[in-house]
Amino acid sequence: MSQATFHGHSCFTLTTDDGTVLLIDPFLTGNPLADVEPDDIKKVDYLLLTHGHGDHIGDGWEIAKRTGAMVVSTFEIVSFAQQVQGIENAHPLHIGGGFNFPVGYIKMTPALHGGAVEGDESGQYTTVPGGFLINVDGKTVYHAGDTALLKDMELLKGQVDLALLPIGDNFTMGPDDAARAVEMIEPDTVIPMHYNTFDPIKQDPKAFADRVGKKAKVVVLEPGQTHEF
Ligand code: NI
Ligand code: MN
Repeated sequence: MSQATFHGHSCFTLTTDDGTVLLIDPFLTGNPLADVEPDDIKKVDYLLLTHGHGDHIGDGWEIAKRTGAMVVSTFEIVSFAQQVQGIENAHPLHIGGGFNFPVGYIKMTPALHGGAVEGDESGQYTTVPGGFLINVDGKTVYHAGDTALLKDMELLKGQVDLALLPIGDNFTMGPDDAARAVEMIEPDTVIPMHYNTFDPIKQDPKAFADRVGKKAKVVVLEPGQTHEF
């Protein structure tokens, strides 16, 4: 079975049947809900960054340098990784584009959100934020990143086994819009994210589950918990 482990906020590790590890949006230092320290993360094969905000890049540069993980993100964020952070192992994608990596096909999806890149003093790496469709072990995981509800999500209908959706409101979709996203996408399972990390994004994930009802299976993970799919 493939595994998705939640580390608080929007950070997940996906582990495939053969032990390949994908780390998404590793905001650990400064994340009051994180269950691990950056140093606890020893093996990463792919580091996926949805957008450039500090609560998503997080400890990513340090982790990529230490583990040798391949950075996968938008062209601008990958350029920042290579030109400013000195990380060579990186693969640029852009919204709507995917690539057949050894682990599987990974595609970037649209997100409606801010595009600044934390640590970019020049401003030249500002990007379009995104999400990811990640195909591993014959299943498709959708990590939405930070986004508003988008009608484009309807295009994902029938493609997604496991959806990771923000429900925090304030900076992203709140529970009502996230439940509407579930109606559009029709995933088998949804795991809420990007909530309760800070006061403005306090939410009750059980209330979100009630709103989703029978439209999908809602799995609420505490940081450190793993869902098998
Ligand atoms: Ni953001
Ligand atoms: Mn965020």
